[in-house]
Amino acid sequence: MMTMTMTPVDKSALAALKTEIKEKAKVIESALDQALPADPGPFGTLAESMRYSLMAGGKRVRPVLCLEAASVTGGSREAAMPFALALEMIHTYTLIHDDLPAMDDDDLRRGRPTNHKVYGEAQALLAGNGLLTYGFEICLDAAKKGLVPHETAVRALHELCGGIGLFGVMGGQSLDIMWEGTSLKIEQVETVCHYKTATLIAASARLGAVVAQASEEQVEALTEYGRAIGLAFQVADDILNVSGDSEKLGKSTGTDEARGKTTFATLLGEEGARKMADELLEKALGELAGFGEKADFLRRLAQYIVLRDR
Ligand code: IPE
Ligand code: IPE
Ligand code: MG
Ligand code: MG
Repeated sequence: MMTMTMTPVDKSALAALKTEIKEKAKVIESALDQALPADPGPFGTLAESMRYSLMAGGKRVRPVLCLEAASVTGGSREAAMPFALALEMIHTYTLIHDDLPAMDDDDLRRGRPTNHKVYGEAQALLAGNGLLTYGFEICLDAAKKGLVPHETAVRALHELCGGIGLFGVMGGQSLDIMWEGTSLKIEQVETVCHYKTATLIAASARLGAVVAQASEEQVEALTEYGRAIGLAFQVADDILNVSGDSEKLGKSTGTDEARGKTTFATLLGEEGARKMADELLEKALGELAGFGEKADFLRRLAQYIVLRDR
């Protein structure tokens, strides 16, 4: 079995990155908590199952990235927040469905039994659909209240659809399932991971910049940064599936091999996959060149994504 090889310097750097990201994630946690409906009326079970997965303590990388992209392009946190929360709700929906028996059939997620293990498959499907719709609803509410100009909200929601739909996570997840148990070329694994993971991460950066009404040049640079860290994120996920610690990750390991998935880790080995992640990190950092010191947190976030152990 492969083992994680981290130097002591990497370990202390990782500890500092984790602390910083946890602090930013706390802001997201409390905003998510408040955004969920206080009184679900007769739909208590469904609301509970939505909350169960959403508030189970994910890393909150997508909303943190969205808020930061808004901040480096001069936007307000208030305007970006509904879009950041929507990204996390929609991401959580993809996780609930990804874990279903019809897909990856996983029992553990975010350190808890998966949604369908607790609420059953029907409620888990509905919780996912509920979170997807609720994400759009809170963005539209923000536009309705005048927090974001209507035209900006329309563009941002259009970008969000691009990240999640046929040409985003759904397309990637479809190929991922169809190609299970087959041996793939690296280009095919890249295609799957670009769509199933990198598009939503790129959309997170893009949404923040769009809501901040950044220049097209800035929107494009942040999108390219997001695509590179998004692919690196999946490379890291593949490595962790082989040699990570299930308790830290809050999900089972060894599942890719059990399901016959070709991943970056199976194709390149851990060392090759790490090299690929480092190259993607370099590319991501290159995209931030025009932002100066303002983008230092985005630089550290990219490093965290490559070094992370959960
Ligand atoms: C897991 O996403 C699914 C992938 C795209 C690899 P995260 O690793 O962001 O999961 P949480 O949100 O922290 O639980
Ligand atoms: C998840 O991909 C990507 C999603 C869109 C949910 P995986 O199936 O590889 O991720 P984990 O390992 O279950 O989190
Ligand atoms: Mg999957
Ligand atoms: Mg999975």
